[in-house]
Amino acid sequence: MRVYFLIDPYNEPQLSIKLCEHKAMQIFSFVIVITNFLFFCSGFSNFVDTITRSQNISDGTTLASRDGSFELGFFSPGSSTNRYLGIWHKNIPVKTVVWVANRRNPIKDLSGVLMVNGSGNLVLLYQNGSVVWWANSTKEARNPIVQLLDSGNLVLRDEKEENPENCLWQSFDYPSDTLLPGMKLGWDFRTGLERRLSAWKSSDDPSPGDLSFGIEPHNYPDCVMKKGSKNYFRTGPWNGLHWSGSPALKGTQIFNISFVSNKDEVYLIYHPIKKSLISRGVLNQTVNFYQLYIWMENVQTWSGFAPLPRENDCDMYNYCGANGNCVRGEFPVCQCLQGFKPKSNDSSNPESWSQGCLRSTKLSCQDKHRDGFLKVGGLKLPDTMHTWLNTSLNLEQCRAACLSNCACMAYTNSDIRGRGSGCAIWFGDLLDIRKLTHNEQDLYIRMPASELEVINHQKTTVIVIVIAVAAIAVVIGMLLVAYCIRKSRTNFREKMENDVILDQNTEGQTEDLELPLFDLSTVTDATDNFSGNNKLGEGGFGPVFRGTLKDGREIAVKRLARSSGQGLNEFKNEVILIAKLQHRNLVRLLGCCIQGEEKMLIYEYMPNRSMDFFIFDQKRAKVLGWSMRFHIICGIARGLLYLHEDSRLRIIHRDLKASNVLLDSNMNPKISDFGMARICGEDQTEGNTNRVVGTYGYMAPEYAIHGLFSVKSDVFSFGVLLLEILSGKKSRGFFDSSQSLNLIGHAWKLWREGRPLELIDTCLGDDSCPQLPQIIRCVHISLLCVQQHPEDRPNMSSVVTMLSSESSLPEPKEPGFHVGNKSLPVEYSSSSKQQSSSRNEISISLLEGR
Ligand SMILES: *[C@@H]1O[C@H](CO)[C@@H](O)[C@H](O)[C@H]1NC(C)=O
Ligand SMILES: *[C@@H]1O[C@H](CO)[C@@H](O)[C@H](O)[C@H]1NC(C)=O
Repeated sequence: MRVYFLIDPYNEPQLSIKLCEHKAMQIFSFVIVITNFLFFCSGFSNFVDTITRSQNISDGTTLASRDGSFELGFFSPGSSTNRYLGIWHKNIPVKTVVWVANRRNPIKDLSGVLMVNGSGNLVLLYQNGSVVWWANSTKEARNPIVQLLDSGNLVLRDEKEENPENCLWQSFDYPSDTLLPGMKLGWDFRTGLERRLSAWKSSDDPSPGDLSFGIEPHNYPDCVMKKGSKNYFRTGPWNGLHWSGSPALKGTQIFNISFVSNKDEVYLIYHPIKKSLISRGVLNQTVNFYQLYIWMENVQTWSGFAPLPRENDCDMYNYCGANGNCVRGEFPVCQCLQGFKPKSNDSSNPESWSQGCLRSTKLSCQDKHRDGFLKVGGLKLPDTMHTWLNTSLNLEQCRAACLSNCACMAYTNSDIRGRGSGCAIWFGDLLDIRKLTHNEQDLYIRMPASELEVINHQKTTVIVIVIAVAAIAVVIGMLLVAYCIRKSRTNFREKMENDVILDQNTEGQTEDLELPLFDLSTVTDATDNFSGNNKLGEGGFGPVFRGTLKDGREIAVKRLARSSGQGLNEFKNEVILIAKLQHRNLVRLLGCCIQGEEKMLIYEYMPNRSMDFFIFDQKRAKVLGWSMRFHIICGIARGLLYLHEDSRLRIIHRDLKASNVLLDSNMNPKISDFGMARICGEDQTEGNTNRVVGTYGYMAPEYAIHGLFSVKSDVFSFGVLLLEILSGKKSRGFFDSSQSLNLIGHAWKLWREGRPLELIDTCLGDDSCPQLPQIIRCVHISLLCVQQHPEDRPNMSSVVTMLSSESSLPEPKEPGFHVGNKSLPVEYSSSSKQQSSSRNEISISLLEGR
């Protein structure tokens, strides 16, 4: 019988008991646990987290917080040999300093000592007693105690005072370049203390550089980054939900960011929603931005996202001058607000853009009824230096307050939560405005009545023109449709004649049919004679109906339209193919119905429609939290793996996309629509076709350009689909015009900049937070799948393994089609090149259109 009492230097004290032969042993162990528990409660810890008057910290020794997350000691930054007293994360392998005491005054040797001096203050001394740095606590402590808290805060307090809030001094009040969870950024008006971040001069020198970030205590407070004394970037004022100029920050779902403003204090504070997440916000002078970082446990590295500022034009302070509006992606990027004209007439000279704008018509303040307001949405609110704020006024009262003051230029609801409340008013020129499509706050800009009339007139003209154009388009469209219908009828007749010949060639195959044949009357009954109410949608090959069989089973019926142009032969081949495939991630064919002219396929019914129905819709996307999305991703991967490797036939789908992934009642994904699919021989893994069909935005480069398709071109499509599921953005619709990047290019850029999390759909929901490593891993996998060269892309069995393990992944190489949307040759993406497929290719087409 042996008892081990182990103290692991890196963990909580642990008790480990080996071998219990005796029953009494259990009682004994219980006693030990209790003793251990009491030890722990009485402050027992393997880390020294406090020093008192008689103790000190010299170079080489450290103080650690009770839970071991932070450590205080002496360090030398980068390649410097200077010694600084600082605090860093203790529980991660990358040394990350979050606070420095003697930033301006390095110690040149190893003689530094931190101690509490005779007057109860915290001081950093040379060995000879000269002072390097001291904490300027206001009151003297009788029994001073210095403690490093688990939050990373170093506090000096009286021993009797247990509440860390009542400390005499704390390092959180004197931030360096890092904002930790629970740290306040802003002002305490009672003491006049400003907590402001200032960047390190360089990674070798922690002394304050000229980049700093803090809150400007204007009437309507604003968060401002400065270079020296000059404004460099504003976040815009807090509007109750987020910073007016940084709406993206609100949706991260990783942090709770709150903003407090009252007569005593104004500050910003953040906490990660998941407590165990290690995070920090850092101001960095080398890259000139502030960025939030989170520690990625599985890859053992920091991942940064949401840098402020994000862009080096419109985000730069007052880039377009007074009353100007910075519009990214347009030319010129600086425009004037409505009702204003450029100060300089030389619009060709970029220098003149930033000179700002003047009113086209002067305001007539004498007669206040002559002025009105123009409501403008989607702006970053102007600089709040000259503002007035009253949180108890409503919008109507705010308008009246603005009208009654000749200097008032604009007003808004200061808090946009709910229906909006509060009143903020601007005086003088409106500075530092940019266009932001995602900002829901409206700014009401004062305008003379005459100017408002002009603007309203313009609007009416635009509406009239739009209606006229639409009407003409409709007429032309109808004429075209009528023409096409006539044309396709003739074509169909020709095609049918061809099919009959083909049919005779492949007669033997129809005997393979292992599929139940449905009676036409059964299908007619089930779908209520194909009633309009039961129609689920219209594919290119014909309509799809929902139906209920007599036994209660729900079905989806795809009815081959007579004019679809799809031959009977292809139809039969398709039936044979799908009948042979059975996997829980493939849609299941229940049977078919061929009777006279009628040809139909009968599938299991998918109540939750398809992926695109969810991920691209703002409201429905919220239903799909991360765990659900991951479940779907894994399902699609398994379905595709089955097609490529595990089924009786080797099948290349060729048209994998969000709308071809159906969802059953339990949100299990089912790959559907094998209309483009090809069967390859046992050893054959690729084919060649001069009939490139598929969907623009999902096609691999070698397939789109050279018609080469293989399992790897399916992998490419899978990668694109994965990016869509992660980002909630359509590969086809997404185009970042400012940087001319498509979704793949956008993802690749973010990845290389170490900001993969910015790709993520803000709707992933709260459950996404603990899963961040998994999410990043999925971004990584998607980039491996869309690599330019097919041989670099993993096959589906590797993808399935990657998804389910935590093994390390190779770095992705350059993706295909990542620059601009023009790199895909247009002629190949259209179906105009379609020719009837060659004999030895078995083209199996389902009825669903694209
Ligand atoms: C103490 O030592 C430091 C460096 O070792 C030196 O700069 C400082 O002048 C010394 N102070 C006194 C009072 O000797
Ligand atoms: C600032 O960012 C650069 C580039 O990411 C990095 O190399 C450097 O160490 C950072 N500086 C500090 C002081 O953290």
